Amino acid sequence: MTPIYPPEPFRIKVVEPIRLISPGAREAALKEAGYNLFLMKAEDIFIDLLTDSGTGAMSQEQWAAIMRGDESYAGARSFHRLKNAVEDIFGFKHFVPTHQGRAAENILAACLVKPDQWVPSNMHFDTTDANIRARGGRPANLVIDEASDPENQHPFKGNMDITKLKAFIKMYGCEKIPFGMVTVTNNAGGGQPVSMENLKATADVYHESGIPFFIDAARYAENCYFIKQREPGYEQKSVKEIAREMFAFADGMTMSAKKDAIVNIGGLLCLNDDTLFQNIKNELILREGFPTYGGLAGRDLDAMAVGLYEGLDEDYLAYRIGQTAYLAKQLNDTGIPTIQPAGGHGVYINAGAIFPHIPNYEFPAQALAVELYREGGIRGVEIGSVMFACLDPETQQWHYPKLELLRLAIPRRTYTQSHLDYVAESLAKIKSSADQIRGYKFTYAPELLRHFTARFEPL
Ligand code: F0G
Repeated sequence: MTPIYPPEPFRIKVVEPIRLISPGAREAALKEAGYNLFLMKAEDIFIDLLTDSGTGAMSQEQWAAIMRGDESYAGARSFHRLKNAVEDIFGFKHFVPTHQGRAAENILAACLVKPDQWVPSNMHFDTTDANIRARGGRPANLVIDEASDPENQHPFKGNMDITKLKAFIKMYGCEKIPFGMVTVTNNAGGGQPVSMENLKATADVYHESGIPFFIDAARYAENCYFIKQREPGYEQKSVKEIAREMFAFADGMTMSAKKDAIVNIGGLLCLNDDTLFQNIKNELILREGFPTYGGLAGRDLDAMAVGLYEGLDEDYLAYRIGQTAYLAKQLNDTGIPTIQPAGGHGVYINAGAIFPHIPNYEFPAQALAVELYREGGIRGVEIGSVMFACLDPETQQWHYPKLELLRLAIPRRTYTQSHLDYVAESLAKIKSSADQIRGYKFTYAPELLRHFTARFEPL
């Protein structure tokens, strides 16, 4: 019998010390960082759940592969080892490595997006959103309505709303839509998966209108594992087979390899179209580097080639998805509301529900992020109005996201169950005096991707 929360399918060979600094030192660190946890020193963080991106632990095989890195400028062995893995797993005709996911997005947007064009998706991640906007385009999020109901137990809450997508294409016309996307899993919406059925239906709608379909594949392996667990007909298929089936519906993909390829740096841009590939290579040479290294060292390409397979390992995935579910369960048991069901890479706490007295323009999830650091030296990330509220350029009105969330992203193969217990205990303490907590206001905020560099003042 498989345990509900499978133990780590590895043991620890190298350790990295972490320490909890004193409450006074934590208060001073918060103040110095303008209450923005992105601006803190990592050495002042005890448990870092800011992101699961590039923060995972590499395996002995990956470290061994690093020693085999071929640093030739062009045509390195490392590139060919990565090429074999990428072709084997994703099956696209062409690919280039990039230094991370947003570099792939930038190059794709530079080659395809023109001012006033639209790029629909279930939900764009913030860097994809910003890369489309940076070219004068407009991102559109057409996820199913269940995604914004935190209690709803829909097994595939990342699904595209097919009716909305059809209406959207009809409204703007395919000439205004250079390509369409789907993000798997849907990070901005709680790490929720997209079903195979929905991916196929989305691909069909795009293709009927002649719109190329790109998958944001950052967490594709976690998504495929959910398909295996939850979608009828996939129980007996391997996660790798499921992945092949999924990518066969698409014309290309962008990927931050810092997630499911379990590397500290790296990305991929894959596609089938020959002419677009030529343009992408030219853009890549300008911005990232020669097409056989794309802004990475040869050793990084080798770590990715190995990590891509480790990310598909089903014992690892069972442990990984179990760890997230475990943390969600600990929190829910003490009455802390999280997006249901638990996502793939993190637990998303409904901060709006914990602090009903803090309005969205005073950033309840930012308040919870600060409080969690103050209480336990733990760093999460706000996914609410700091990250996503935006000013409509036409109406000059502010649009606020439907949910104010604090994401606790779990780095891969990095923290143990007792770390997660400590996180749950810290949150339980905060919840018991939730009505004492106040909101925040900006003292500085840039126009794009403001959560990275904004500064705040407590109200
Ligand atoms: N797409 C998704 C779905 C992501 O989650 C991210 C990054 C990117 C693209 C961009 O990739 O960071 O390699 O440039 N997400 C990180 C996070 C930053 O914390 O969720 P990148």
